[in-house]
Amino acid sequence: MSVHQKLYEGKAKILYTTDDPEVLLTHFKDDATAFNAQKRGQIVGKGEMNCAIATQLFKLLEAAGIPTHFIDRPAPNEMLVKSVRILLVEVVVRNIAAGSLCQQTGLPVGKVLPTPLVEFYFKNDALGDPLLTRDRLLLLELATPEQLDQLTEQALQINKILTAFFDQCGITLVDFKLEFGVTSTQQLLLADEISPDTCRLWNQAETDPDRRVMDKDRFRRDLGNVESAYQQVLERVLATNTATNG
Ligand code: TMP
Ligand code: ASP
Repeated sequence: MSVHQKLYEGKAKILYTTDDPEVLLTHFKDDATAFNAQKRGQIVGKGEMNCAIATQLFKLLEAAGIPTHFIDRPAPNEMLVKSVRILLVEVVVRNIAAGSLCQQTGLPVGKVLPTPLVEFYFKNDALGDPLLTRDRLLLLELATPEQLDQLTEQALQINKILTAFFDQCGITLVDFKLEFGVTSTQQLLLADEISPDTCRLWNQAETDPDRRVMDKDRFRRDLGNVESAYQQVLERVLATNTATNG
């Protein structure tokens, strides 16, 4: 499939058109940003590692009946995806208190939540991706009420599948962020990526609060060994998927 022009460059990925109007090519970059791009850096090999991890997770979710934008991985850091209109909503699911939930509520880091929490954030860098209420989301027409129900239901289902899978990897899925898109025929698809950039992943073999971190918090908080943490996630995801699917 031949690649045409650059459609969009984000902080971690570049999107290109292809000769099929329904298909886009995503190039995963090594660039890393945090705190709304106030902190910038590179995680060597991240593009390939995140593309590989996201591929495995999309395949796992598709097999469990979750429709995703994933089509193929034609190169180590490239993914072919279905063209969608991305909803300007970031859906965050939390199983354990961490990050902004702790900063904004005072809950202690590591507190296991009684049930998973689903939150919506406005995907708007200029406004700093603020937390939305359901009514604000509908007011801004970021999704229809039906889509909102679907987002919540799918996010919870994805959480069940990913929590069980990462558990098999010896990793606790603390929280994660999802993005969804709508096809030309109005089908809702899971889009973007699922990777250590978009999840909090804690190594179950470690109890130390810094040593257990296997995700982008290592970069955000200058914990070091970022590349080897991502590599460890990739190795465990590949080994577990092979063990499960042959
Ligand atoms: P938070 O605790 O900072 O709100 O983050 C919740 C989850 O969302 C965490 O797994 C990291 C992920 N996330 C992103 O993928 N992109 C972002 O821009 C932010 C702020 C968080
Ligand atoms: N990706 C976000 C940014 O740089 C923030 C983060 O992941 O912490 O804007």
